[in-house]
Amino acid sequence: MSAALRMPSVPAPLVAADPAPADPAPATPAPMTSEPSTGELRQALPLITVRDLRVAYDTKPVLDHVDLDLFPGEMVALLGASGSGKSTLMRSLTGFAPISGGSVRVAGHDVTNLRRGELRTLRSEVGQVFQQFNLVPRMSVLTNVLAGALHHAGPINWVGGFSGADRRRALALLDRVGIAHKASEPARSLSGGQQQRVAIARALMQRPRAILADEPVASLDPKLADAVLALLRQIAAEDGIPVLVSLHVLPLALAHSDRIVGLRHGEMLVSARTSELDAADLAVLYADDAHDGHGHATGAAA
Ligand SMILES: Nc1ncnc2c1ncn2[C@@H]1O[C@H](COP(=O)(O)OP(=O)(O)O)[C@@H](O)[C@H]1O
Ligand SMILES: [Mg+2]
Repeated sequence: MSAALRMPSVPAPLVAADPAPADPAPATPAPMTSEPSTGELRQALPLITVRDLRVAYDTKPVLDHVDLDLFPGEMVALLGASGSGKSTLMRSLTGFAPISGGSVRVAGHDVTNLRRGELRTLRSEVGQVFQQFNLVPRMSVLTNVLAGALHHAGPINWVGGFSGADRRRALALLDRVGIAHKASEPARSLSGGQQQRVAIARALMQRPRAILADEPVASLDPKLADAVLALLRQIAAEDGIPVLVSLHVLPLALAHSDRIVGLRHGEMLVSARTSELDAADLAVLYADDAHDGHGHATGAAA
């Protein structure tokens, strides 16, 4: 069991080797450590900062003192068994979860204390990708991508309201994700992998400051899953935005992320660079409760 596992019960910093400041407030970046590999990712301040987050549905706690930082340019895999709280954590970042404590900052927005109208802005700035793609099946691929622009324009311009510039941009994004030749086809005629590329282009149409992808490859076969995750990672790096992607296949997480965070029963038990982890380190996330009297990682060092 590597020393990379820990239980960050204290607010900051999450990872001992993490050279970034835990709090976005300081004006000067923390000094770099001697870690060169992902160091350039960490020179910026985190775009998303979660501290001591608690979420409860009715009285049932679902997220328990969760800390998380997401930095520009990094692809972070979110792991955890079904029901561990992955989707709830993602929903917390866009104001869709009943937060009962702690703080969530996303692109400068204090999600737990939004001003009037700010929720809409927040959601327009965060691109989302879902397992079932959530396209409008009978509409063209191009129109589905253009729908991403409605986040900014409001719902009024749905029919014929897209500008030439929007259309050119949507086509360029379809080209970027490799399916420009499908622009005029109905979305339903595309394969699953192609539909997910459309959904990614739609998210990019928002000019997102971060992308949240909740199980984006769970409906795709392994080869297509690899390609979609590689695309998301490329977008993170090229556009300098954090991409948080929940996954349940460990090899995919190990192959396609810069960092892995892992939830178990709503607690963040893993937070480490992917290069420091292997499958055995992640077993704690899926450990059988019957054999784990305390519900915690054993041998965790921090
Ligand atoms: N809207 C909701 N109302 C009540 N309980 C919920 C709701 N959404 C999620 N939960 C509960 O929260 C826990 C975490 O769910 P979820 O975040 O969907 O986990 P994951 O995405 O890791 O499978 C589960 O026990 C689930 O039943
Ligand atoms: Mg889920």
